[in-house]
Amino acid sequence: MPLYIVRNDITKMSTDAIVNAANTSLLGGGGVDGCIHRAAGPRLIEECRTLGGCETGDAKITKGYDLPCKYIIHTAGPIWRGGHNGERDKLVSCYRRSLALAREYGCESVAFPLISAGVYGYPKNQALHVAVDIISEFLFENDMTVYIVIFDRKAYQISEKLFSDIEEYIDDNYVDEHTDDVSARLRRQRHLEVDEGMQCIEFPMAKSIQSLDDVVSRLDESFSEMLLRKIDESGMTDAQCYKKANIDRKLFSKIRSDKLYKPSKPTAIAFAIALELPLEETKNMLMKAGFALSRSSKFDVIIEYFIEHENYNIFEINEALFAFDQSLLGA
Ligand code: AR6
Repeated sequence: MPLYIVRNDITKMSTDAIVNAANTSLLGGGGVDGCIHRAAGPRLIEECRTLGGCETGDAKITKGYDLPCKYIIHTAGPIWRGGHNGERDKLVSCYRRSLALAREYGCESVAFPLISAGVYGYPKNQALHVAVDIISEFLFENDMTVYIVIFDRKAYQISEKLFSDIEEYIDDNYVDEHTDDVSARLRRQRHLEVDEGMQCIEFPMAKSIQSLDDVVSRLDESFSEMLLRKIDESGMTDAQCYKKANIDRKLFSKIRSDKLYKPSKPTAIAFAIALELPLEETKNMLMKAGFALSRSSKFDVIIEYFIEHENYNIFEINEALFAFDQSLLGA
């Protein structure tokens, strides 16, 4: 099941559980902890008092009270002390223990803030990487929908090098149609209309109906057929592929059972990425779903960048898409 990265206030998430970046006392504090206590109401602190605190890297669960979620999972993240004091291991443990509790309580969905990335000073992009690594590892084995909730835009920063490489790639490849002046755009539009008109005149109706019959009876391999063939060729199981694509099992079943299923563009791309298809094959697969990769779309240019660099990590791609304000891949 998929991992989503969203920008929101975690107290607004109506998942089965939300995670609180608490401290070892579990008696409230500032940051996201303060927001959660305020929104959940005073009964939360009463239950927290009965829990006997929480060790760093561990997690405890309470009810959600006035929040839209059923449960709140409180975890105490590590304080950043330069990175050589077991901070990563403790942060990993926060995610693992929280996810284990969510599973134990039958949660189908859970939302995390970036634990330790505020007052506790864990560098935000490293904190994000830990979150993505551990959650995606968990999702390979478990059916759950997990959200990473990013509050402030600055929290979400891909590495500067990657950011500037992608920016450069966009500069080199992105055709920004909106920089045209109005008259140039109108001129282009008129050309287009004339061209389209000419095509109609050159294509007599009788001929088009006859060939339409012909063409329809000999359809090419569909998106769904190509996908299943490529999965077989790759040696992956269906489950390995849809998980790697960050696609929900139900959606995959729909695609598998309907030969003519038309996926959305991000879904089609997610499968191409999971299958590690080179650019030409990606374009071919997209074409079967009725899409193309265009140099005038920033989203498309970013996808091309990753495929050209043979980086097929969907979570990294999503980080970059998010950083450039584009929609994400997957379900
Ligand atoms: N929704 C989602 N994320 C939020 C929200 C919100 N409403 N508010 C803040 N964040 P922090 P920590 C983000 O400081 O570093 C408390 O006093 C925030 O931008 O809340 O683990 C506890 O009691 C940041 O990216 O938690 C502890 O003493 C992330 O949540 C201590 O702070 C975590 O920031 C824990 O520090």
